[in-house]
Amino acid sequence: MRIGMLTSGGDCQALNATMRGVVKGLFEKLDDVEVYGFYDGYKGLIYGNYRLLTSTDFSGILTKGGTILGTSRQPFKLMREPDENGLDKVKAMKDNYYKLNLDCLVILGGNGTQKTANLLREEGLNIIHMPKTIDNDIYGTDMTFGFYSAINIATDAIDCIHTTAASHNRIFIVEVMGHKVGWLTLYAGIASGADIILLPEIPYDDKKIIEAIQKRKKAGKGFTILAVAEGAISKKEAKLSKKDLKKKRLKENYPSVAYKIADMIRMETGSEARVTVPGHTQRGGSPCPYDRILSTRLGAAAAQAIIDRNYGNMVAMINGETELVPLAEVAGKLKVVDPNCKMIQEAKAIGISFGD
Ligand code: F6P
Repeated sequence: MRIGMLTSGGDCQALNATMRGVVKGLFEKLDDVEVYGFYDGYKGLIYGNYRLLTSTDFSGILTKGGTILGTSRQPFKLMREPDENGLDKVKAMKDNYYKLNLDCLVILGGNGTQKTANLLREEGLNIIHMPKTIDNDIYGTDMTFGFYSAINIATDAIDCIHTTAASHNRIFIVEVMGHKVGWLTLYAGIASGADIILLPEIPYDDKKIIEAIQKRKKAGKGFTILAVAEGAISKKEAKLSKKDLKKKRLKENYPSVAYKIADMIRMETGSEARVTVPGHTQRGGSPCPYDRILSTRLGAAAAQAIIDRNYGNMVAMINGETELVPLAEVAGKLKVVDPNCKMIQEAKAIGISFGD
């Protein structure tokens, strides 16, 4: 069999671990298999930048962060647009697939990547998609690889802030990755004992944030920790159109939402709120043990799907079991945090404020 493989979109810790799982699974069961790695995501497939990989390429990479193939963001909405030299990107990808006589293409990536994977499936290519993202927002799988590694890093960051916040009796805001969804902020916020957690799915009210800070003060707690998702929005902002919100944010000119909230807290309470942004550290370093196991299991399941020629699917983890989910059913959908879910209710029950 001849397999193509690429990693696309923002990277995460367990991309290599997942590719290793797929390739080990294939080499274990098939005598005659060739794996071609395309460099820098869909770019490599479009421009024919690839290399035949050997088992040596996949040795010692279980614990290695990043991606041995490189990655890039190629927006789905531009896939049907010709490139700057007039090249038809979709045709170019298909031509390279057929030129190499591939049986299947294994695509590791998040939501945008998945949409293009589905487009290639609709164009007749044999596709297997592997759900990657620290955001855990891929519809149709309980878990994405990268998520738990990122939780560990964001939690460590908030833990470190906790001790210094307590020493100085300060208010601290830690901005956690996640523009559209708040899974990472929710998990890291609970794991690190944040007092206020702000998610894109639960628009906040300034007054409620101040009330939560004052409640802690009254209880004799001089410091407050806020875990704020990159995409947190206020109740007022939630009423605006996307365009008007963008305009408003540009006019306000804060580097990010955490600084805007810090300013509001300073104005309302007279106390300074310090901001920490762990940023891309959340996508870096080695995968945590959970992700290594998840990646290995998803990889083995992908290898089996390839051997069975069970194409057109995402390899998902559902209720602790690997499952194949048709790309046609999930592509273009986002898995968001339900504001009324048990986890939020339980967090609220122990006094965590969501600013609502
Ligand atoms: O999609 C993963 C993600 O890490 C988001 O959480 C974050 O908002 C975004 O990527 C950052 O993207 P970039 O690497 O392009 O700055």
